[in-house]
Amino acid sequence: MTQRITTFAEFRDAISDYRLPRVLLAALELDLFTVIGDRRWTMPTLAKELNVSERGLSILCRNLASAGLLRKRGSVYRNSTLGATALNANHRAYRGGYLNLIRSHWTDWLRLVESVRSGLPIDHDVPDGPDYRRQFTWAMHHRTLEIAPAIAAQLQLGQAQTLLDLGGGPGTYALAFLAKNPWLRATVCDREAALEVAKEIASTHKARGRLSYLPIDFSKEQIPGTYDVIWYSNVLHIYSPKENQAIFRRVRAALNPGGRFIIQDAFLHDREGLCPVEASLFAASMLLFTERGNTYTASETVTWLRQAGFVSIKPVPIRKGTEDWEGGIWEASVRGLRPRMIANQKGSNRSKKAR
Ligand SMILES: C[S@@+](CC[C@H](N)C(=O)[O-])C[C@H]1O[C@@H](n2cnc3c(N)ncnc32)[C@H](O)[C@@H]1O
Repeated sequence: MTQRITTFAEFRDAISDYRLPRVLLAALELDLFTVIGDRRWTMPTLAKELNVSERGLSILCRNLASAGLLRKRGSVYRNSTLGATALNANHRAYRGGYLNLIRSHWTDWLRLVESVRSGLPIDHDVPDGPDYRRQFTWAMHHRTLEIAPAIAAQLQLGQAQTLLDLGGGPGTYALAFLAKNPWLRATVCDREAALEVAKEIASTHKARGRLSYLPIDFSKEQIPGTYDVIWYSNVLHIYSPKENQAIFRRVRAALNPGGRFIIQDAFLHDREGLCPVEASLFAASMLLFTERGNTYTASETVTWLRQAGFVSIKPVPIRKGTEDWEGGIWEASVRGLRPRMIANQKGSNRSKKAR
């Protein structure tokens, strides 16, 4: 990640960081990891197979080997484990959804100046259709496969019976929460096209019987039903402060007494909104792809939560290396006792009377 740049050499080095990403994307563009598969290749045979020059390929492969993505012995190359699995379209662990998204991001980011000039997303005149939504939803699933179970393992849901995964896309988090909490029932709320993907993903999951789907636009509609927990992951940054405040009020109305609202996002942690750098850079993505999105400081988000009537607002610590974003989870509660707590309390009152 970029450090603070103070010298010309640091400036040059920061800009030159595009070289390795370009090498990686060239390999994806050539389907190199898929073609290599689980075989060993010499340069002449691989160049012939890929229909590229031997000189070009040997320089590309040497760089991929020095990045650890290929194994090189003399003039023979083979895939690393990652290359042979997540990057190989013929392997069941292929993460094509996310790979396609980051490939398209390269060309999108070339247009950053357009968005800086206009303040609008680069494709503001292209409506978000169901095909795009499906592709994006698969990308979110492939991005989150390892993160979701790690987060679910660390978030204690206590006696919560119902969870709404608001803007849950592929439902990867909902499924991870269900796997961790066998008594829980979850609902994924998103657009119809995203929910089609969520249903496909859930169809082979053990917990699919405890998962339901809610196709609404929560930026415009009230959320039907009430829940013990509402999980809101990577959605806050899509909306303006005003839109988020309105969504927070809807969320509050859809929580049971004592219910919890848990937000995961790329929070900024300093007053000026510069750190972490990853969260600050992510705002540039929001400029490129959303009408009004941005990244927000944890403290302004806390203010919106208070204004919406939430209490007990606090960060949720997540083990370093397992989080989606550094310091990226906050939770807030609705006043009142959860139904189970009331039952427990009545139980203890009864036993006091009996004594
Ligand atoms: C960046 S994805 C995050 C997916 C998932 N929560 C995660 O953390 O991986 C944002 C999701 O929110 C959904 N979303 C955003 N605004 C929405 C709205 N107003 N109504 C329904 N879904 C919405 C999008 O369709 C998308 O699936």
